[in-house]
Amino acid sequence: MNEYLKFASDTAREAGEVLRREFDRPKQISYKGEVDIVTESDKRSEAIIVARIRERFPGHAIIAEEGGGASAAAAGAKYCWHVDPLDGTTNFAHGYPCFAVSIGLSEDGEPITGVVFNPVSNEFFTAARGEGAYLNERRIHVSSVEKLATSLVATGFPTHQRKRSANMNYYWEFTLRSHGVRRDGSAALDLCSVACGRFDAYWEFRLNSWDTAAGVLLVREAGGKVTAVDGTPYHLGGLSLIASNGLIHAEMQEVSEIAERAAKP
Ligand code: IPD
Ligand code: CA
Ligand code: CA
Repeated sequence: MNEYLKFASDTAREAGEVLRREFDRPKQISYKGEVDIVTESDKRSEAIIVARIRERFPGHAIIAEEGGGASAAAAGAKYCWHVDPLDGTTNFAHGYPCFAVSIGLSEDGEPITGVVFNPVSNEFFTAARGEGAYLNERRIHVSSVEKLATSLVATGFPTHQRKRSANMNYYWEFTLRSHGVRRDGSAALDLCSVACGRFDAYWEFRLNSWDTAAGVLLVREAGGKVTAVDGTPYHLGGLSLIASNGLIHAEMQEVSEIAERAAKP
């Protein structure tokens, strides 16, 4: 295992164990927006991860969701860590065991290392560029489903500016054309579910690089495809994302166009 992947794995495990312990205890919730919540566990997990990165890679930039990183330095940095200390906070706060630590490393803006750890299910997803994607050390691949009509797909909804999101139209259009659309509440795990073939595709809008850096690499290394909704290349922090097994990608884009037209007044 390469140095970055080993480091990210050890760090995700340490932070994930904190989340696992605190999952069974009463949560202290505060609000960052109308329905955007944060718990003390998000902060504790982030403090551990950021401290470990600073210790080990002091020259690297860090973008961390709860603000513990040094995003100002991130713009020009060659290496940047994208840290979601708890992806799926709403699930965590409600006792729904679908959440994860997500740690990704980019080199010149491209993900090269990714780890996503759900400490309740004990599922540990890892990927390094050019070295494949793994779930609990076993190689994983995207599904071989060829048609949207026989696919299970997933999405998520933003916690900010909810009424301005056209995603309900997408949800409707994809629901009518697939086996179903799941909304599981953790973008990082949704991407991992595409990587290991549970979902055939996933789309979402307005995600941040900490949500996607690790998961996007997992999908690519598992043989899948990731673009923006209009088919242009996906960049970390981009406004939209479709991740798929590759085989249904064109159909995902076609239905997105239909949903986009339906959303226009
Ligand atoms: C959220 C989750 C959710 C997605 C939201 C994200 P958080 O992250 O990934 O699935 O739909 O857009 O903000 O706030 O739980 O880290
Ligand atoms: Ca997140
Ligand atoms: Ca988070």
